[in-house]
Amino acid sequence: DKLAVGIDIGGTKIAAGVVDEDGHILARLKRETPTTEPLEVIDAIADITEEFRREHHIRAIGVGAAGFVDATQSTVLFAPHLAWRHEPLRDAVARRTGLPVLVDNDANAAGWAEWRYGAAQNEADLVLITLGTGIGGAIVIDGQPYRGQFGIAGEFGHMQVVPNGNQCECGNRGCWEQYASGRVLTRRARAAATEGTDFGKTLLAEAGGEVTAIEGHLVTKHAQAGNDEAVEWIAEVGDWLGVGIANLAAALDPGMFVIGGGVSDAGELLVDPARAAFSRTLTGRGYRAEARIVRAHLGPEAGLIGAADMARLTARRRRPAN
Ligand code: BGC
Ligand code: NA
Ligand code: ZN
Repeated sequence: DKLAVGIDIGGTKIAAGVVDEDGHILARLKRETPTTEPLEVIDAIADITEEFRREHHIRAIGVGAAGFVDATQSTVLFAPHLAWRHEPLRDAVARRTGLPVLVDNDANAAGWAEWRYGAAQNEADLVLITLGTGIGGAIVIDGQPYRGQFGIAGEFGHMQVVPNGNQCECGNRGCWEQYASGRVLTRRARAAATEGTDFGKTLLAEAGGEVTAIEGHLVTKHAQAGNDEAVEWIAEVGDWLGVGIANLAAALDPGMFVIGGGVSDAGELLVDPARAAFSRTLTGRGYRAEARIVRAHLGPEAGLIGAADMARLTARRRRPAN
């Protein structure tokens, strides 16, 4: 009676789990989606839920999606990295499954999980930054997710940090996620391969000779093994990360920033340079307290845990009194 399904919809895969009220995952399923065509994603969610229901009594479904979700938490309005535009996801999934459904932004869901069960459990406030393909953000204030008037608060990745800078998938230029995300590492690695540098050749060989098969996590692996170039690339991402965090501190002044997403696997190689850049850039430095910058605790499953938790809590609030 206390279980919910959490679903995290990423660019290429759907990660799902049955989550209990302590944030533990009791069952997991993963689907590679050949496309992110909304109808196929909805089919996949319906299949997954049906499979889970054979073994578990599910009360609600929470979906975290990598896009802008409206304030009623039903529609994905826009998604920079997916072809989703005004997609009424909540009602579609509810119709297919007959269960109460809640939709939220993927990073909001991860932030909620880190606040409830992870890195920020005893904090009043939290700001989460996830570094994956893009940058996702979440704000929790006094234990409540902050979504803004229109549902889109926390889209930190699309704050402009470089006027007229790199083209972003959102349509603007110079967005923060063009400088401090996994995509940056991927771009650099592929450029090195194309240029034929020594490191580029190594990366290319490891990716089976296909430039487009080179991904950012390969860079992380080499950085951890001590490769200077890889360490430097990650430090640069960390530097941009810290500068952006200083701006967020000027706006929000939380006690803690939590760094999650795939790039945070680089650990201190990323976070140390971020802390240095943060201290260097923070306004009023020396005369104010400085927020802690820590790594997320729940790893890649934070999104599905948080989505399930929010769905369960909302379903409980809405349950009729009889
Ligand atoms: C999107 C966010 C998403 C983030 C991480 C950004 O580009 O705008 O909605 O949370 O990527 O997936
Ligand atoms: Na968000
Ligand atoms: Zn953008």
